[in-house]
Amino acid sequence: MSDVLVEQKRYYAERAPEYDDWWYRRGRYTRDAEHERRWLRDVAELEERLRTFAPRGDVLELAAGTGIWTRRLVPAANRVVALDANAETLALNTPAADLVPADIFSWVPPQQFDVVFFSFWLSHVPEERFAEFWALVRSALQPNGRVFLIDSGPPEIAGDGELQVRQLADGREFTIVKRFWQPNELAERVAGLGFELDLALTGNGLFLHGGSA
Ligand SMILES: C[S@@+](CC[C@H](N)C(=O)[O-])C[C@H]1O[C@@H](n2cnc3c(N)ncnc32)[C@H](O)[C@@H]1O
Repeated sequence: MSDVLVEQKRYYAERAPEYDDWWYRRGRYTRDAEHERRWLRDVAELEERLRTFAPRGDVLELAAGTGIWTRRLVPAANRVVALDANAETLALNTPAADLVPADIFSWVPPQQFDVVFFSFWLSHVPEERFAEFWALVRSALQPNGRVFLIDSGPPEIAGDGELQVRQLADGREFTIVKRFWQPNELAERVAGLGFELDLALTGNGLFLHGGSA
């Protein structure tokens, strides 16, 4: 698994210049108009949920990437610390956040935050690192700090195992971790680790979201 986690980091470093095409449905991610409508409705729902959650105070964003969500956190927060393993993704993030190049699995938080946020990251955490990851989240939070997460919704047909092969636009292939969670399954799992999360899928089921209850 350590080799896969190294390959996963490299995949996102190489994908950095094309990463936003996925979110903004450009180029090879373009789909038919109906899919586009569903995507935009679910994205708007995520944005509204995050606005309602109100990520105030000192916010830590883990695996912040190119900053699609960092740019939404900054106006609401006192300060955003945006961590990512790759300089290539952070170079595209916003200078309005404090950008920290670091590996989540070895980083020690220098302070405790009011909010820990992560989007499209938990699905890349393998089972064998799951408890360790949530222990990091706990250690990064103030005693009454809050968590908010966004991720992929589960596909209609469940795959087998926690690995996926991904291809870049130029055809290069990388093996990464991709785990899909149902909201109730994840809520139960993290309850066992001391987190009470209110999780749901967006209306069209494309995304999972939620935060501290
Ligand atoms: C799917 S992207 C999500 C980016 C961003 N949160 C978003 O929603 O667009 C996953 C991110 O995790 C970062 N990453 C991968 N392995 C990591 C690790 N071990 N430590 C920190 N970041 C890592 C990648 O560089 C990439 O930016």
